[in-house]
Amino acid sequence: MSTKRILSVKDLSTHYFTSKGVVKALDDTNFDINGGESLGVAGESGCGKSTMALSLLRMVQPPGKIVKGSIKIGGLDVAQLSEKDARRKLRWQKISMVFQGAMDIMTPVYTVGYQMKEPLKYHKDIRGQKADEICMRYLDMVDLDPELFYRYPHELSGGQKQRIVIATALLLEPDLVIFDEPTTALDVVVEARIMNDLKRLKKELNNGMIFITHDLSILAEISDNLAIMYAGWIVEHGSASRIYKNPRHPYTQKLIAAIPRLHKDIDRLEYIPGAPPELTNPPKGCRFHPRCEHAFAKCSQVEPKEYFEDGVMVRCHLYGDD
Ligand SMILES: Nc1ncnc2c1ncn2[C@@H]1O[C@H](COP(=O)(O)OP(=O)(O)OP(=O)(O)O)[C@@H](O)[C@H]1O
Ligand code: SF4
Ligand SMILES: [Mg+2]
Repeated sequence: MSTKRILSVKDLSTHYFTSKGVVKALDDTNFDINGGESLGVAGESGCGKSTMALSLLRMVQPPGKIVKGSIKIGGLDVAQLSEKDARRKLRWQKISMVFQGAMDIMTPVYTVGYQMKEPLKYHKDIRGQKADEICMRYLDMVDLDPELFYRYPHELSGGQKQRIVIATALLLEPDLVIFDEPTTALDVVVEARIMNDLKRLKKELNNGMIFITHDLSILAEISDNLAIMYAGWIVEHGSASRIYKNPRHPYTQKLIAAIPRLHKDIDRLEYIPGAPPELTNPPKGCRFHPRCEHAFAKCSQVEPKEYFEDGVMVRCHLYGDD
């Protein structure tokens, strides 16, 4: 497997400047992705997962703004790009994204083929027979009959549409593909098949993939590394197998203990009391401290910094000696 560095994110912070105050949706985020590697991003609703993905694509809309940090991919300094260059050089070509509920964005009046060919035409000026062949090859790659190229969206199942959106995201061979809840609307059998396809494609294409979901049991199947997010911070980051076996951050421990599919004894399923904080006014010190059963005096006063040990980052005062 290649170890080519694909993406490098340093100190990235993205905030929304609303009339109710500044929403600190993403703060001081650091991570890298290498070729052939997948990163699973998990955390409760509102913790900043989509904001992180949209930042990488330079698609955060006002009142949102990247306020700090850098994103490097394939020679591009993403945070510094003009909107024109983000459109021409970054999206689809370097990074593509399959959005939550993406299958619903297919236009009913155009055939699958017509819609798939658009990015090829716009970004690579590939048209006609050659474009048809490329699209059909990618349909085959996501386990679909290439003949679907000639169909209209209403003639397809939800799972087929979602695969078509995935095939389209892969068409321009981007360095990185981001999947934001790619299978939430699908039943578990279809979900498992698509996840298996993506696992295979990651090896075949040797690109980087980011999977975003609040369902950790899905990420267990597909991620090489995991980033656990809480209230705009990555609180733990490292190899997925290590984190599942030995979660260190108290929040990660709770999340993993709450995965139904990993536990036979449903009576012992844990949950995390309380709710995530308002990000206009996150708790002082550790943002998790109001919900943490290990919290001690320092936790409500001092922000924990990233602490690295055995290739794993954890952001918690229980670790390190700061
Ligand atoms: N356009 C916006 N304007 C103001 N605040 C926003 C906007 N978009 C997101 N936020 C806020 O930013 C924070 C992070 O939101 P984000 O959508 O990134 O979370 P998420 O982890 O993707 O959640 P989910 O799992 O529900 O998709 C939340 O507090 C959210 O309310
Ligand atoms: S820093 Fe303190 S409050 Fe935060 S997770 Fe660690 S022990 Fe809990
Ligand atoms: Mg989201």
